[in-house]
Amino acid sequence: MAGLVMKALILCGGKGTRLRPLTHTTAKHLLPVANKPILFYILEHIRAADITHIGIVISTETGNQIKEAVGDGSKWGAQVSYITQLEPLGLAHAVKEAQGFLSDSRFLMLLGDNLIEGGVTEFVGQFNTYAPEALILLKEVLDPEAFGIAELNEKGKVSHVVEKPKEPKSNLALAGIYLFTPEIHKAIAQIKPSWRGELEITDAIQKLIEMGKQVSSHIPKGWWIDTGTKDDLLKANRVMLDNFLKRDITGSVDSQSQVMGRVEIRQGTEVAASTIQGPVSIAEDCRIKNSFVGPFTSIGVGALIEDTSVEHSIILANCRLRKIEHLADSVIGKNTEVLKREHNSRVINLVIGDDARIRL
Ligand code: TTP
Repeated sequence: MAGLVMKALILCGGKGTRLRPLTHTTAKHLLPVANKPILFYILEHIRAADITHIGIVISTETGNQIKEAVGDGSKWGAQVSYITQLEPLGLAHAVKEAQGFLSDSRFLMLLGDNLIEGGVTEFVGQFNTYAPEALILLKEVLDPEAFGIAELNEKGKVSHVVEKPKEPKSNLALAGIYLFTPEIHKAIAQIKPSWRGELEITDAIQKLIEMGKQVSSHIPKGWWIDTGTKDDLLKANRVMLDNFLKRDITGSVDSQSQVMGRVEIRQGTEVAASTIQGPVSIAEDCRIKNSFVGPFTSIGVGALIEDTSVEHSIILANCRLRKIEHLADSVIGKNTEVLKREHNSRVINLVIGDDARIRL
């Protein structure tokens, strides 16, 4: 009989190629939106659903960063175990690697880079009440060819799931959050790697259906964001600032500055001769001088922003922006300097890491 305790499994392996160069140095799950790592929102959602036993699947490249940031989970009142996946061989492969941790428990599985409005409590409640073998979260998408897609029968039960179909029969995508009983391990044992060499969780769910097991679905009303690309990351930042930010100013703001709307200015930050128009989050120990910081911007610890206008952007820790006329829709990695030279020159000097994208 399945263990009564429900566990959670967060998938933080993978390569994060679409978010390079940021992911050369930082696990994408630790990239901040509204000045908080994505993974921390997920840990909060799991705890809100009353689950305390959490396993995190990590890669050899970024696993240590995640261990350092989350530790034993006690900050969240949780018990966190780590499972190293040596190669990103697919979501079902990650579950296979985590079998020792999962044992015979029912479990909630979440992709460590997906965010969902309102968390997972309702979803977990539905699983506990109706007790299917699997419950998958679905969201309507405009480009179903790019996702795992589910078809529902007339009773609303999942009749078929398929990974990235060429001719999709539905626009309901599997949204990176799943609930399983231990039956999923039997299904995973029967599947083979797909054409892209991965053990696909969609194939395992399809196998469950073929085994005659009940697979149910839940279609939440709110937003769901997969933060896999730069634009998705900016969208998550925008949504989090828009939905949750409160006005809270503990840093200093001089008399020549104007702070409008929902703006967070944390301790040790100094704002001088500048306009800040919320929603904006500015972390600790920044200096903002003679600048405009516009809506949907998050600025990380220790940044210096001078004679610059910036909006709808994520600026990571210890960046320096000087004399930039208008920076928008950008994500700037840690310790980066962007400055305009004193004399108007057409020459551009760059020292840029691998896989950067610059539009001038
Ligand atoms: P993806 O975003 O599909 O893959 P990725 O993280 O390697 O990114 P990219 O496509 O840009 O190279 O993965 C979704 C989530 O699942 C992400 O949090 C990483 C995690 N994951 C694993 O933990 N193990 C795996 O084998 C795979 C494929 C993904």
